[in-house]
Amino acid sequence: MDIGFLHLHHFTVVIYILLLLAKVILLLANQKNLLITFSGKTRVIHIGMVTLMLITGIYLAYRSPVGTADFSIVKYIALLLGIVLGIIGIKKLSRSLAIAAILLFGYAYGISMTNNIFLKGEQTRVKQALENFPGNLEEQRLERGKAIYQEACLQCHGEKGDAQFQKAWNLATTPSSDNVKAAAIKYGRNRMPRYDYLTDSQIADVVAYINTFKTDAKSSNP
Ligand code: HEC
Repeated sequence: MDIGFLHLHHFTVVIYILLLLAKVILLLANQKNLLITFSGKTRVIHIGMVTLMLITGIYLAYRSPVGTADFSIVKYIALLLGIVLGIIGIKKLSRSLAIAAILLFGYAYGISMTNNIFLKGEQTRVKQALENFPGNLEEQRLERGKAIYQEACLQCHGEKGDAQFQKAWNLATTPSSDNVKAAAIKYGRNRMPRYDYLTDSQIADVVAYINTFKTDAKSSNP
């Protein structure tokens, strides 16, 4: 279900952005009559795309373990502001508002890609988070693992490992061995991305951390 919604969401976003870009290009090229005709003829698609984009977006925000994280809130604000400025900009034939709308969409896309309001990449954030635990002290293993997990894994597996967003396996009930888990992290599996930027010792840290989620409940994985 999540994945279908994700694809539909991406599709509506792409169509919406293409429509907006076409209008902004007409506006910048001073083709006002053409712009008014184009806007009129694509009005139904425009309204349909915005509606679907919002419905799928709200569902995903509700399902995603990071749907209410600070960076997500900033993303929603940028998107809504972009939609409003886009509508006003095209209606009032204002180039600056229309360009501002495009920039806001670009920014929101950047947040989606990085999960960070400064658009700082995951790998850099993991590296910085690990700087708080210099060396390889055994007693800091769980803290190192948690630091990695919070930056890289939370968005699918959630705080307690059981979010199962985007078909992520439930880490709290899985019967897999540490070796199987480490291999899934290192090489990826189906929709699980591979983390080849983590060292074997960092993977062991994060496996130790996810093992703290373990509950006795029966596995709910396929
Ligand atoms: C994009 C979503 C996503 C992210 C991000 C993600 N995972 Fe996964 N993870 C999955 C999916 C989906 C599966 C199930 C793979 C399959 O179907 O075989 C999975 C499976 C796993 C498994 C295998 C479980 C088992 O019982 O064999 C482990 C362990 C795991 N993930 C740990 C992590 C860790 C640690 C991170 C962060 C470094 C992480 N995952 C990031 C989606 C994700």
